Amino acid sequence: MIRSVGHISAMSPYALAQLDAPKGMPLISLSQNESLRPPSPLAIDAAAKALEAGNLYPDPDWGDLRAALSRLHGIPADGILCGCGSMELISCITQAFADEHNSVLAPAHAYPFFRTAAQIARARYDDAPEEDKRVSVDALLAAIRDDTRIVFVANPGNPTGTRIPRAELVRLREGLPRDTLLVVDEAYAEFTDHVREPVFDLVERGDTVVLRTFSKAYGLAGMRVGWGLFPLEIARELRKVMNPNNITIAGQAAAKAALLDQGYMRETCRETARLRDGLRQRLLQAGLNVPESFTNFVLIHLESPEAAHHADHALRAEGVFLRPQAGAGLADCLRVTISVADQIEIAASLLERLAKEGLS
Ligand SMILES: Cc1ncc(COP(=O)(O)O)c(C=O)c1O
Repeated sequence: MIRSVGHISAMSPYALAQLDAPKGMPLISLSQNESLRPPSPLAIDAAAKALEAGNLYPDPDWGDLRAALSRLHGIPADGILCGCGSMELISCITQAFADEHNSVLAPAHAYPFFRTAAQIARARYDDAPEEDKRVSVDALLAAIRDDTRIVFVANPGNPTGTRIPRAELVRLREGLPRDTLLVVDEAYAEFTDHVREPVFDLVERGDTVVLRTFSKAYGLAGMRVGWGLFPLEIARELRKVMNPNNITIAGQAAAKAALLDQGYMRETCRETARLRDGLRQRLLQAGLNVPESFTNFVLIHLESPEAAHHADHALRAEGVFLRPQAGAGLADCLRVTISVADQIEIAASLLERLAKEGLS
């Protein structure tokens, strides 16, 4: 038998959503934090047009896309790297900057792929407690060890949906050793632009990376385009481990066109926030515990892991798939991605009925 190397055979595969709808029932997937709308029509046209050159390899430097990102965000183009989703960047950062002699640190309820990336790199994975499901800068600083090489913080967080202010991120950065890389993952940033200040300027220090994605507010999860702003030396090292031809020609064209259609993206964020806050109010009225969210999902805290399991199964039986959160250390929680109004209506009614039956 051909065996994978030790640390890979010891790993569990990354847990994706399970979407096996009961026979004959339409699937309502509220489980992957995808956008409630298709991409901008401009992005769809641009991707279709780009396919005409599909016999050629894509631009390995993402030139047009980088230039557009640089203009929109007022950041230097040469510090931008684009990944096959931000997952590729998370994985490559970890491979390039951590190994079996050191460790990666993240908050206790962090995006589970940070742990997977550390496992692939053979690095130890440490976590620091959160305060009421919010990132605690004090706890992260207290958990730093001599061998901590990377700290990952998603802001806002997934699956918590909570966020910390820029001042807290600055305090974290200033409290970390200079040889510890801070990665601020802003996958959901566009949903909070009205309440947050950008943190791209931290990258100038040379020890901080900021990641973004087109998968959420821009509705391009299926095209796999993420990006980040990197200090130049970090970018140079990272490119050694990245796939040199990573993003398809259609993905690059779609992302650039989506970026230029800011109005469409903003409208997606507004509609998402309207449905998200409406769902939250209904669930609160039903007696469920649902903290304020700054993303395209809400997290429901149930009384126990058993209650979460029961609710998840009851909804699955009706074809509605939420995302259980044991993988993020929250076995008593279910995450609901904000989808179109009629799907949210179905989920809300089912959850209200369950709450009435005594779930919370
Ligand atoms: C916090 C966070 N980071 C990164 C990602 C990965 O996004 P992408 O589709 O760009 O790989 C996700 C996806 O859910 C996420 O929640």
